[in-house]
Formats: sequence, structure tokens, C-alpha cells
Amino acid sequence: MSEYQTCDFLVVGSGLAGLAFALTAAEYGSVIVLTKGEVQESNTSYAQGGIAAAVGEADSWKLHEEDTLVAGAGLCDPKAVRALVQNAPSAIQWLISIGAKFDFGEDGMLALGREGGHGMHRIVHHADKTGWEIERAVVAAVKREPRITVFDHSFATRLLTHEGRCVGVEAKIDTLGSRYFLGRAVMLATGGCGRMYQHTTNPAVATADGIGLAAQVGAKIANMEFMQFHPTTLYHPQMRSFLITEAVRGAGGTLRNHLGRRFMYDYDERLELAPRDIVARAIDAEMKRLGTWCVYLDTTHLKPELLKHEFPTIYEKLLSIDIEMEKDWIPIVPAQHYSCGGIVTDLQGRTNIPGLYAAGEVASTGVHGANRLASNSLLEALVFAKAAGEAVGSEPEAAREGSSDTKVKPIHEAESVRLRRTLGRLMTANVGIVRTNAGLAEAKAGVQQLLKEYESLPEAAFSRHPLETHNLLLGAQYVVEGAIARKANVGLHYNKDLEAKPN
Ligand code: FAD
Ligand code: SIN
Repeated sequence: MSEYQTCDFLVVGSGLAGLAFALTAAEYGSVIVLTKGEVQESNTSYAQGGIAAAVGEADSWKLHEEDTLVAGAGLCDPKAVRALVQNAPSAIQWLISIGAKFDFGEDGMLALGREGGHGMHRIVHHADKTGWEIERAVVAAVKREPRITVFDHSFATRLLTHEGRCVGVEAKIDTLGSRYFLGRAVMLATGGCGRMYQHTTNPAVATADGIGLAAQVGAKIANMEFMQFHPTTLYHPQMRSFLITEAVRGAGGTLRNHLGRRFMYDYDERLELAPRDIVARAIDAEMKRLGTWCVYLDTTHLKPELLKHEFPTIYEKLLSIDIEMEKDWIPIVPAQHYSCGGIVTDLQGRTNIPGLYAAGEVASTGVHGANRLASNSLLEALVFAKAAGEAVGSEPEAAREGSSDTKVKPIHEAESVRLRRTLGRLMTANVGIVRTNAGLAEAKAGVQQLLKEYESLPEAAFSRHPLETHNLLLGAQYVVEGAIARKANVGLHYNKDLEAKPN
């Protein structure tokens, strides 16, 4: 390896976690952010409902804590949850201080929405495009900070190590080719892995790259079987999954089957505002029971002004396909949405590999346990990325060299597309909302077969797609193996062949 570019702190990913870390760490040194697409392209930009924080008059961090623990079904790390909820109000203040604009009520207080699993209105939001606004604000703040340099269209391919420490990253930069970066610490903030499923709310960048990179250097990865499916995404045969925020149910939207029955009465006393795993499973059961392709979200009883004002993006999107929220039921199905597991970290984002940090959706801090509470994800990304940004100041000098033993060869893009499609079908059929022993065994053999096939294909010129596919295959292996190893039904993991009933 020849030329290195050195800085204090390296970040992979420019969603909320990556940029909140960069802005905090910039207090202690220079920062380079590598991101594989346009800077704003991230799950963060698509977040709709908002960010949870106990800022309402009747609310308290204790109540937020209780709801988070209940949703997590007994598997949350209580220390992590406490750090999350106690830091939530100051995290919102920080976002406001860098320019994020949230909705305020006529009383001059933050307007708070409600979502499933929350005992009260607690969701700070910017209409139904909160993520877009947050990403706008952090990108603008990064542009104002001279100590941060962003390389967009720069795809991290390998982590570099030296004497047991993670010391850098190799990246392919669209305009420059391969480049090597060294720093005192590396932050992986690469987001989710939804693209391993056929139907997902996640954008194209969510390809488990952080899992693939962390696995290369032996970082600990856990809880990947807790894959969250969002209950309400638009069902439209010709369109990609489009999220209909849970805040619509928080505002009074109800779920009906094609016969018009409000079927949540048959599943949970919290009805449409039960935690997400329960609502998604109920929809799945109802569709299977009635043999239908979808169920419906009914907002026809809500005021048209409220729908247009609170959910302008969704309203317009639906109108473009001739669905009027005040008149028509919205056809919906659950789709993959969020990975609760990931790279195991402590409360300052440290992994088990010295010098390597992780934050945001790629990390497993322990706050979500077996099921994430709605709108706790942006919050987790922010709180723990900032904590990591404070912690990295004590990392030693950057190494002068680094290397990697791993090299994943690119294969031809057409082959990569084929392998990825097969993976999507395999995961959707066998590792979805309801699992079985036979299905999981099929998924395990299938993923292994796909990895073998990848290895056997000839090397081709570099392109991002195949390396992402390889990362998705590695990530899928963790999901499947985690699901096979999990011998009790809990939270998002439900295997029909296990005896205990899900909560
Ligand atoms: P991301 O925002 O996904 O950023 C990851 C970054 O890493 C991207 O910039 C990507 O390009 C980059 N990257 C990945 N791999 C590489 C690589 N190899 N090299 C270089 N760069 C790389 N959560 C909430 O709390 N509230 C909500 O209302 C909400 N709504 C949502 C709606 C939708 C449609 C979706 C998809 C998610 C929603 N979530 C919500 C979840 C939440 O948005 C994400 O979990 C969160 O934004 C993750 O932030 P992050 O910074 O960890 O990752
Ligand atoms: C939504 O708006 O329903 C998504 C919220 C989340 O994923 O937390």
C-alpha cells in the first residue's frame, strides 16, 4: 500500500450518526467523512414520524424508559436505555441549536406526535419528513465546520489494522480510485441492511456494509435476528415500498381487513398503537387468515386539514396514485424496516477492536433489546454518536501504516443483481415476521450456497454493487444464524415451531 491520507478521526457514513459524531469529534481534531453516495443519501433522510424525547409537560424520562423497556420485551440493556432517555431532551436541543426546525404548537411548545408503544405524545417532528430536515441541518453544520472534510461517492471497502488496532480505511473514490486513510479512530456509521429483503422501506444504500467491514476485523456482532418489520407500508404492485408513518395511527388511523373489520380488537388491547412487532404480526396473521395481499389503513374519519397539514408528503404521494386519504382506505403491508442488532458497542460507541467505533443503526448498543420502540432510532444514532465523539479525544496518535488480509473481489454486476434478487426472495420467504425451523434451515443453506457461488464467479472490473451484495450475504448469515440460535419467541423473533407464544 502506498499513499496514506491521515487525519484524527475517520467516519464511514453521512447519516445522522456519522455526521453527529463528526461534529462532536471535530472539537478534538480533524475529521474525514467517507460516504458512498451523495452526502444526504441515507436512511436518516427518509425518516418520517420523528424523534422520541420526554419533553412534554406531563412526560418524564422514567416514562420514556418504561415504554422502551416494554417494547424491548425484556432484552434491553437497562443502562443503555437510561443513557438514551436521559440524554434525549438535550439531544433535541442540540439539533435545534445547529438549525433543525421542528413543529411547534400555538402554545410555543414543541408539537408532539404519538406512535405505537408510547404511553403518551412524545414524538418531536417536522411534519412527515423529520429525517429530511435533520439531515439537512447536520449537513449544513458540517459544511460550516472547517475541520471536517467530506468525500462523497467514496465507498469503504476494507478496514486497515496495525498491531491489533483498527487504524484506517481503504475506500474507492469514484473520481480518484483506491485511497488509504489513517486516523486515531474509525467510526462505522453505515446504517442498515434492509436491502437483503425483497420488500423494505430502506433506500439503496442500506446494504449491511458496516457488518461486512466489522466482520473482516473480528468485531463482535449480535442480535441480528431482531429484524423489525414496519406494519404500514403502501401496497402497490408497481411501486417500491413506501412508508406510511406510524404517526398516522398515532393521529387516529385504524387498521381494517377487506371486510371492514377493525381487526386489532382480535389481537391486542392496545389496538393500532401496540408495539410494532405485535401490529406487524397481527397484520401478517390477518392476511394469511383471509388470503388477501394487503389490509387497509383507514383515515377517512380524520379531518382533511389535519391529514394535509401533518402528513403532506404521504398525502401527495397517495394522491399521485389516486388515493385520497380522506375518502379511500390505504392498502398496506408490513415490510422490512430496521435492524435492531449490529456491531456490539459500549455506551461510548467502542467495539471490541481498539480504535474501532460504531454508532447508529449498524451498532448494537443494547437499547432496543428484542424490538425497537418507534422513533428511538434517530435518538439512539444521535445520543451514542455524540457520546463517541466525546470519547475519541483520548485515542492515541494515528498509526503510520495499516494493512488488511481481506480482499473481496468484485464480480460482474449482472451476476450480482441475480444473487441479490435470490437473497431477497430467500430472506423474505424464510426469515420474515413468522419463521419456522425448516424455513430457517433452508435460508441457512441458501445463503451459504449464494456465498459459494459468489466466490466461484470470475473477477470483474470494480463496481460497488457486487461488494454490497457480498456484505448483504455476510449480514444475512448473521440474521439467519441468530434466528436459528434463538430458542424462545421474544419480541421480533417469532418461530412457529417454538412452543412459547410471542408476547
Ligand atoms: P444512515 O442514515 O442510513 O446513514 C448511513 C450512511 O452510511 C449513508 O450515508 C450511507 O451512504 C453510508 N454508507 C453505508 N455503507 C458505506 C460504505 N461502505 N462506504 C461509505 N459509506 C457508506 N427512525 C426514527 O427514529 N424515527 C423515524 O421516524 C424513522 N422513520 C424511518 C422511515 C424510513 C423510511 C426509514 C428507512 C427509516 C426510518 N427510521 C426512523 C430509522 C432511522 O431513519 C435510521 O435507523 C437512522 O436514520 C439510521 O441512521 P444512521 O446514521 O445510523 O444510518
Ligand atoms: C414511522 O414514522 O413510522 C417510523 C418511525 C420509526 O421507524 O421509528
